[in-house]
Amino acid sequence: MTEKIKVLIPEQDVNKRIADLAAQISKDYEGKSIHLICVLKGGVFFMCELAKRITVPVSLDFMSVSSYGNGTVSSGAVRIVKDLDEPLEGKDVLIAEDIVDSGNTLHYLVEILYKRNPASIKICTLLDKPDRRTADVKVDYTGFNIPDEFVVGYGLDYAQKYRTLPFIGVVEFGQD
Ligand code: IMP
Ligand code: MG
Repeated sequence: MTEKIKVLIPEQDVNKRIADLAAQISKDYEGKSIHLICVLKGGVFFMCELAKRITVPVSLDFMSVSSYGNGTVSSGAVRIVKDLDEPLEGKDVLIAEDIVDSGNTLHYLVEILYKRNPASIKICTLLDKPDRRTADVKVDYTGFNIPDEFVVGYGLDYAQKYRTLPFIGVVEFGQD
């Protein structure tokens, strides 16, 4: 089977939208600093592009999670694979995610992070598939709402491929 990538959101549009998000975030957090948390690995390209354009002070931290399951059925809960380096006590936390799909990951992540007593937690995602939502998540900043299609690029992968594409694409499978 061959794979072809069809452009869904061109690079220029992604960059423009990230600049708009950063401007909005900079305004909303005026007088504060932001503790930006990246959910690895998918969120890393978005986090960097966003962080570069935010005008209030930003500190960065990283975590990695995977979902718990009993073999075949995922319980939905997440397990921390790599935890943050720094405490969140009193900080204004902004989570940078690549995509919100079912919402499970962020639902559980926010629950875990709230227990660390941050001043606030907000969520910023480059992409959202609202039609797929099953878990309760409040997303504060969204780059693009997209249809229920499997997308790659800008940090998002298909079997670890295509993460480094500078645009958002859809994987199309062919027979040849
Ligand atoms: P959720 O917990 O169902 O919201 O899933 C979130 C995670 O699933 C994302 O952070 C991605 O790693 C992955 N994911 C969901 N949809 C896509 C997609 O279209 N392309 C690549 N990864 C995806
Ligand atoms: Mg992710």
